[in-house]
Amino acid sequence: PYEIVGTLGEGAFGKVVECLNHSNNEKMALKIIKNIERYREAAMSEVDVLERINSLDEEKRFACVRMLDWFDHHGHICIVFELLGLSTYDFLKENGFMPFSLTQIRCMADQIFRAVHFLHRNKLTHTDLKPENILFVDSNYNIKYNSKMKRDERTLKRLDVKVVDFGNATYDHEHHTSLVSTRHYRAPEVILELGWNQACDVWSLGCILIEFYLGLTLFQTHDSKEHLAMMERVLGPIPAHLLQKTRKRRYVHHDKLDWDEHSSAGRYVRKHCKPLKQYMSCKTPEHELLFDLLQKMMEYDSSKRITLEQAIGHPFFNLLRKERK
Ligand SMILES: *[C@@H]1O[C@H](CO)[C@@H](O)[C@H](O)[C@H]1NC(C)=O
Ligand SMILES: *[C@@H]1O[C@H](CO)[C@@H](O)[C@H](O)[C@H]1NC(C)=O
Repeated sequence: PYEIVGTLGEGAFGKVVECLNHSNNEKMALKIIKNIERYREAAMSEVDVLERINSLDEEKRFACVRMLDWFDHHGHICIVFELLGLSTYDFLKENGFMPFSLTQIRCMADQIFRAVHFLHRNKLTHTDLKPENILFVDSNYNIKYNSKMKRDERTLKRLDVKVVDFGNATYDHEHHTSLVSTRHYRAPEVILELGWNQACDVWSLGCILIEFYLGLTLFQTHDSKEHLAMMERVLGPIPAHLLQKTRKRRYVHHDKLDWDEHSSAGRYVRKHCKPLKQYMSCKTPEHELLFDLLQKMMEYDSSKRITLEQAIGHPFFNLLRKERK
């Protein structure tokens, strides 16, 4: 009953196509998984997680994507989803990496935090939060000419977002694979193999918010040791007690990160990163509040990192609550 009308995206797992349900003429997204054991397993785990979290939220209060159906087509697991718009990453890219405004970030962060907190309350960790996995419900926009920047700018008509891709979501009681997350959004405890839990999602969300604020990825690297050096440049030294515990001994020298600031990699890190507060484009109290929140989300020690419940109550969101009343 489903007719494929176009391709929406492709990945290692397979592809996502746009479909038409001929019974009611509604468009949907269909994720078609490759007929390979590893991907089929991840897809079945995604189906389980989606069935569970969708049924726990019948009133649709939380911004997690809705699964409409699923089936096995000759070994290809196919998952039918509600059709959404562009990912926040694709929108940034198509808009020339123009950052989102503080007001937009506040509104999007509130929805994302509540959705991921809902997962956390239900003993799940998403593990792969990144701008590619945050989709606008409707990415239609108006075009305005920005005379200061001398270019056209896209302004979204709606800021509703949804969290997608539950293929790597992990329950507390399940085996926690040592490597999780896409590199740029990977928490320090994952890189150092110190064990991880819901707090690793909080770190990823901190990286996502700053990417929304800058238009660019904060930790632009392909190497784990360089990644840790970038973190030190932005957030200060990694606490010795974490470096003492890691079994990744090649990252450590005398309880410090084994890093030469004067090497060519060292110069690259100094040039491409700077202390967190220096990324502020504006020193108003509202920008200060965002950076206070970011600092707490990017706490190295996962046991001291702010939880999403606390983050939702952070003063950065006060303006939203005032508007709602
Ligand atoms: C397609 O439309 C029919 C008729 O309204 C409906 O029963 C069915 O659930 C729809 N399929 C999906 C996946 O939404
Ligand atoms: C997420 O799951 C996919 C299988 O769909 C797997 O190939 C990938 O390595 C996982 N990602 C991480 C970071 O473990």
